[in-house]
Amino acid sequence: PYAFYEQLRSAGPVHRIRLRTGVQAWLVVDYDAAKEALRHPGIRKNPYSPAGVRARHAAAGDGRVIPANQRLSHHLLYADPPEHSRLRKLVTPAFAPARMAALAPRITAIADELLDGIDRAVDATGRVDLLAEYAFPLPITVICELLGVPVEDRARFRDWSAAVVDTPMATPQRMVSATDAIVDYFDRLVALRHTKAHGDDLISHLLTVTDDDGDRLGHDELISMAFLILVAGHETTVNLIGNTVLTLLTDPPRYRALHNDPDAVAPLVEEMLRYNGPVNVATMRYTAAPITLGGTKIPPGELVLVALASANRDERHFADPAAFHPDRSSNHLAFGHGIHFCLGAGLARLEARIALTRLVGRYPELRLAVDDDDLRWRESILIRGLQDLPVDL
Ligand code: HEM
Repeated sequence: PYAFYEQLRSAGPVHRIRLRTGVQAWLVVDYDAAKEALRHPGIRKNPYSPAGVRARHAAAGDGRVIPANQRLSHHLLYADPPEHSRLRKLVTPAFAPARMAALAPRITAIADELLDGIDRAVDATGRVDLLAEYAFPLPITVICELLGVPVEDRARFRDWSAAVVDTPMATPQRMVSATDAIVDYFDRLVALRHTKAHGDDLISHLLTVTDDDGDRLGHDELISMAFLILVAGHETTVNLIGNTVLTLLTDPPRYRALHNDPDAVAPLVEEMLRYNGPVNVATMRYTAAPITLGGTKIPPGELVLVALASANRDERHFADPAAFHPDRSSNHLAFGHGIHFCLGAGLARLEARIALTRLVGRYPELRLAVDDDDLRWRESILIRGLQDLPVDL
């Protein structure tokens, strides 16, 4: 999308667009306007508030809004203050930096187990889909263990979460059945936790956590939060790993050099988040009042999409934005900005750094097994990621 975004930025920071699905929205493409939009009090998130419902219907044009099970809607990305502050306060301690850092040995072990599996699974040609065998199972295993859901169910999570995230492909039927299945799954899991002793997992933590006023998460808030963490935790990190490996393999000496230079990994992952991060457009927002954004007047009740991938390539903010420079100190927007700033940013960085370090250690000679033109990207407005990543070991 980068050439398209460059064209849009040269024409202005905010544009009225119509998506392939017919939905009308305002697309924010430059860095300053994106930051402004992400913290604008007149731009809201809750799609089930009366203003949110009106905005969605108006944007859909024909009045058709893709339905989903509303019991999954009580989570951070659908909440505005003061609800958002309350929910975020209850869940934030579970993502404390020390708790995340303590996961490093387990993440390393999971990465190594997966690499052992690749060793065993490789065919005579030495070719393997690194996305399916490594970049996907790593974060989903981590997130399942963190939440305390059985890792054997990960194929189901992948289907459900693709049904929710691949917006242009999501048919109403697929969305309804996926969200119904998720509700059913988490209802049963939480019921089980009520009867069995609590462990150290996140769902047990969310069941018992209270804030200063003794307030707790309600049942639907709990399953919504688990759902959000499951989707956010595996649709994104997989592509950070995939996009990073892809970029490195277009420059094999740079990839090989990492083998002897572990300190180079962190800045490289950071620049990757800016250069080709996994989130293309932030989640849906709408105007709750008339506002002016980047000099453009937007009436109330309109959808606003913030193109993070475009903001991160804004030439007014980043010198030579189309170049991959791990040594630039970057204040990218890949994890969003403001109150909805990614809760899992620390975990995502840790996973990507470990994934890369272990991969280079095991396969310093890894090569891309297809031409650039044959790479298949996912059809999602939210996610920037590959469908597969064939490599030669
Ligand atoms: C929010 C990106 C990994 C949990 C966000 C947002 C972005 C983002 C852009 C803000 C969306 C918006 O404002 O519309 C990413 C990227 C990741 C990643 C690029 C990986 C490279 C994770 C992981 C988790 C996670 C691993 C959890 C384990 C969340 C949650 C929110 C969020 C809970 C909502 C926060 C709120 O609304 O207060 N993420 N994310 N993310 N992310 Fe991530």
